[in-house]
Amino acid sequence: MRFTSKDIVGTKGEELKGRKIVLCLTGSVAVAKAPELARELMRHGAEVYVFMSKAAQELVSPKLMEWATGNPVVTELTGAVEHVAMAGKHPERADLVLVAPATANTIGKMAAGIDDTPVTTLVSTALGSGIPILVAPAMHESMYDHPIVEENIRKLKSIGVWFVGPRLVEGKAKVAEVDEIVEYTIRILREPKDLEGKRVLVTAGPTLEYIDPVRIITNRSSGKMGMAIANEALRRGAEVTVIYGPGTAPPPYGAKVVRVETTEEMHKALVSELEGGRYDVVIAAAAVSDWIPERSYGYKLPSNTLREFTLRLKAAPKLVEYVKRLSPKSFLVAFKAVYRLSVDGLIEEGYRKLVEADADLIVVNDVGRAGSGFMVDTNEVYIVDRDKNVLHVPLSPKTFVAEKILDCVVEKLSR
Ligand SMILES: Cc1cc2nc3c(=O)[nH]c(=O)nc-3n(C[C@H](O)[C@H](O)[C@H](O)COP(=O)(O)O)c2cc1C
Repeated sequence: MRFTSKDIVGTKGEELKGRKIVLCLTGSVAVAKAPELARELMRHGAEVYVFMSKAAQELVSPKLMEWATGNPVVTELTGAVEHVAMAGKHPERADLVLVAPATANTIGKMAAGIDDTPVTTLVSTALGSGIPILVAPAMHESMYDHPIVEENIRKLKSIGVWFVGPRLVEGKAKVAEVDEIVEYTIRILREPKDLEGKRVLVTAGPTLEYIDPVRIITNRSSGKMGMAIANEALRRGAEVTVIYGPGTAPPPYGAKVVRVETTEEMHKALVSELEGGRYDVVIAAAAVSDWIPERSYGYKLPSNTLREFTLRLKAAPKLVEYVKRLSPKSFLVAFKAVYRLSVDGLIEEGYRKLVEADADLIVVNDVGRAGSGFMVDTNEVYIVDRDKNVLHVPLSPKTFVAEKILDCVVEKLSR
């Protein structure tokens, strides 16, 4: 029999392709999100199998989970020893066990090595087999603040169990968002982690300059390219800081985010980060203002009386040129946006900026080309190095472009 509910597998990405994930459900109201979570994992390519505790089955029907995953659901252990079939030491075992939502009760049993439900028995087996385990706790905040629950979580972390969330809102320790759980699953399973131990600083988004307290000049950067790079660096194991102008793309989970508005604020943040710590790699993807008003008015300019006025602009500092001065050992990737140039022209423009900024790589994109540059989810870039070697990345999702950029960085770092 063919399960039509598997039609969605891989529709959002292939990061989990070929991966077998056991989704363990326990008795928290957050189990209502389990079908959505299972299906998001599938959309990223995973094959999902579900184990449920008795308490979980009282809240959500196993039939719903069977539909959601297209696979039989384990609600009790039988002579087929389902826990060993799924997590024993053999080649067909699962790649990751995800306990989401995880009750205080199940976390306590995991920490004590007790296994008396399908979920806890599966987890015990997985721990013994060295299968990675990711736990997404969900409970009332009062339960989460219980010192023994805290101790149990610490204990599990100390033996290598991963945790995601919870979000402390409305007096509850709510389960992490579905997207966050999926992202952490992808990161744990990502191989190779070729930026492990590296610190990466990304500048992203536009900057804006005030004409008066309510009017601004800015540019069309959304921050999507920078966020894609930051997320890819996190997937490769880097510790990531993002200095983020007012872009619309959400910052990646797990990054340190420094929000700024103006070029001056971005400059200060850059100086403070580079003076405050070692960064192995700096990726300057922000579309920093090229000009700023010579004067910013401290009051709202009256449009009824002021029918015409002249706004004088002065050149803004080129922030990318400060990076090597402040942190000579950082590997620097600069960005250059050009408008409707020939391939040779844009490579020349890019190379000129690479030299000016003393960068190690420059990523050039022509924002005049269809599907490229600002606001959109795709980009076409030329990556140029100091020897003028050029890698052309044809029009692709920004996530793929980010992978290619970081492949180049890793390759150069390893030399
Ligand atoms: C409607 C309902 C919601 C519950 N939500 C939670 C919860 O979010 N977190 C939690 O730790 N326990 C919650 N509980 C209590 C657990 O279901 C209870 O501790 C149960 O024994 C857990 O068993 P399990 O860990 O084997 O699933 C809830 C109980 C009910 C009836």
